[in-house]
Amino acid sequence: MDLTHTPWWKGAVVYQVYPRSFADANGDGVGDLTGLMRQLDHIAKLGADAIWLSPFYRSPMADAGYDISDHCDVDPLFGSLEDADNLIREVHARDMKLLIDFVPNHTSDQHPWFIESRSARCSPKRDWYIWRDQPNDWRAALGAGSAWTWDETTQQYYLHLFLPQQPDLNWRNTEVVAAMHRVLQFWLDRGVDGFRIDVAHCTGKDPTFADHPRCLAGEPLSDFNDQPYSHEVLRGIRKLVESYPGDRVLVGEVNIRATSSVVQYYGAGDELHMSFNFPPLDAPWDPVLFRTCVREVEALLRPAEAWPTWVLSNHDNERHRTRYDGSMRRARASAVLLLTLRGTPFLYQGEELGLENAEVGHDQRVDPGGRDGCRAPLPWEYDAPHGWHGVPPWLPFPPDANELSVERQERQPDSMLQLYRELLRLRRASPALRWGSWQELDSPPEVLAWRREHEGDVRTVCVNFADEPRELVLEGAWRVALSSRPDGAGHRFDGRLAPEQALLLEPLAL
Ligand code: GLC
Repeated sequence: MDLTHTPWWKGAVVYQVYPRSFADANGDGVGDLTGLMRQLDHIAKLGADAIWLSPFYRSPMADAGYDISDHCDVDPLFGSLEDADNLIREVHARDMKLLIDFVPNHTSDQHPWFIESRSARCSPKRDWYIWRDQPNDWRAALGAGSAWTWDETTQQYYLHLFLPQQPDLNWRNTEVVAAMHRVLQFWLDRGVDGFRIDVAHCTGKDPTFADHPRCLAGEPLSDFNDQPYSHEVLRGIRKLVESYPGDRVLVGEVNIRATSSVVQYYGAGDELHMSFNFPPLDAPWDPVLFRTCVREVEALLRPAEAWPTWVLSNHDNERHRTRYDGSMRRARASAVLLLTLRGTPFLYQGEELGLENAEVGHDQRVDPGGRDGCRAPLPWEYDAPHGWHGVPPWLPFPPDANELSVERQERQPDSMLQLYRELLRLRRASPALRWGSWQELDSPPEVLAWRREHEGDVRTVCVNFADEPRELVLEGAWRVALSSRPDGAGHRFDGRLAPEQALLLEPLAL
């Protein structure tokens, strides 16, 4: 690979900030952009190259900001447009990039476009959304039931693949395309380095509106919608983004569980630069599932255009430590896996602290989709309220908030935070880990082992999923550069893996 032409994002580690829960500066119990700015050094010190910031736009917050009523302004809960400009500057001042969320599929029902669209059948914006006399059987996500809601005033149904407060835009209308492109330009002009595209596979709808058996069986359409028109929408967005200098990047949420479909969204190098691949996001700690998934990605995402991503947690899914039965040992081993596979890893805020999902009581629930547990606030300080001074945060803290706080882990040499920092440091220093080839190595069934290589720089990684020791025979002599277990590094690898241990190995100079 010619490194002079390798875009920054291929060697990057991206850190997802969910702004409501990251850090609160004004004491109202909800994180904000100033809070984020104050804690930017946490992300820089971790060694991340870029931040993906979840929505901070004006919103009635029916879906925590994924229901946008003004794409070109900041919700007062999070701050102001000036704060956003400062944030872009501050992120760049730390040599990091900033990606923001772009939500093309729908707006809020309080967006002026929808208010106008629903005002009358003859409204000039009627066709900006999807109106029908008869509903079909399409189902919405987030437990919303039918994807169609009846509008009393104009006596038609409108389509929403998510909540009724999130009407779907009609991307076949060229005015919608132009208006949404203006949104992208607005933020590109302000200096953002790219976008995470929300449900990137959903903008195109089956033009025949045919019923779908999977919806009849209870699945939301957004879990499998896969229409050619979504690709056309993405090609338009890619063209626009490429008209800007500086390797701006598009990473899409393609929430389809088949990697063979996901790969289509890279197009011929003219759609997404990267797509999330969901199987590891709800996988339990299971070597068979991981082996299958990694092999599939390696087999399908070979072309130079289709660069993989790896992600274990985000704001929509149970945190991976919780999925791994609360095991810190497994969470530590999975960090090695996540940060050494071929592709761009995305970290979700708090995984570097080993956080689990919070227990959210019935009366504390906020999200209609039941995803509050992974959205709990980050504990910064050891003592309650853990750096959230003012009114208590909008959700309870995750378990063990004092022991897992940043303050505490800063002082513990073997903490999860230090493990992530060390992993990111080693990764940054190794072209093999950042861009190198990937080759699976022979290993016992519960062990995954692979070799990365780039121009003479070589690393081997092995992960023992078993809760018993395993042996691994490797060619050559290797030195332990990092172990997921707090048992030190630097010694020669003797072929033994401790229970649920992951090792990063480098060639031993004899
Ligand atoms: C994406 C977001 C999720 C949101 C949904 C609707 O899946 O990640 O949080 O609820 O889209 O915008």
